[in-house]
Amino acid sequence: MDETRHQYIPALRFGWLTRLYDPVIRWTMREDLFKPRLVKQVGMQPGHRVLDLGCGTSTLTILLKRRQPQSMVVGLDGDAVVLARAREKVAEAGVDISFDAGMAYRLPYPDRSFDRVVASLLLHHLTSDNKRRALCETFRVLKPGGQLHIADFGRPHTFLMACVSLIVRWLEETYEHVKGLMPGVIRDAGFTYTEETGCYTTAFGTLVLIRAGKPEGGAGGSEGRNGTS
Ligand SMILES: C[S@@+](CC[C@H](N)C(=O)[O-])C[C@H]1O[C@@H](n2cnc3c(N)ncnc32)[C@H](O)[C@@H]1O
Repeated sequence: MDETRHQYIPALRFGWLTRLYDPVIRWTMREDLFKPRLVKQVGMQPGHRVLDLGCGTSTLTILLKRRQPQSMVVGLDGDAVVLARAREKVAEAGVDISFDAGMAYRLPYPDRSFDRVVASLLLHHLTSDNKRRALCETFRVLKPGGQLHIADFGRPHTFLMACVSLIVRWLEETYEHVKGLMPGVIRDAGFTYTEETGCYTTAFGTLVLIRAGKPEGGAGGSEGRNGTS
């Protein structure tokens, strides 16, 4: 197996920084603004099954569950350290959320398992190849008519954001993001529509919210156009 396909970047790029993740994101990424907005646009209904992909320390996962207590919310992350912190926060919050350790590009779930998948600040951690694989996996595990909701870097909307994005591109996998290619990459995975629903100035560059949909009729069993093997 080609190990370069399994590259993995921890929450703040270096494992030893993970314990600082919550304050850093709160102060640099306008978390208090964009996460509640993302949760609202997810449009959860009672009985929905919702996957928080790359859930990190579970700040968003908890907001999702609180927004719709009658839903079943699952958080998945590849990092055991961050998942331990997520479990602590969920216990403190007193909400019922389950967590799975796993890779976004090889999801441990059957086809058509979820009504909604949310990916906040995850995709820019994945190589181009793994981004595509993760999106195909997301398409596979979504039910027909299900939706994917993303918060991640997008095309810079000001000169300042363009300058900042150059630094972040050097550190993380943001090529498709800052070039504005993500809507096309998402559609390539089989999603029938993508729409940008929000845009924020942050310390690390332009952050956009995206909604994408899986058609009601659904693709066949293999699901997704560039399916994983
Ligand atoms: C920047 S953090 C975002 C955390 C959270 N979603 C948020 O919005 O605050 C990115 C998370 O993605 C996880 N991650 C990175 N690569 C991954 C992969 N291939 N599969 C699953 N999780 C991954 C990291 O461990 C980290 O917790």
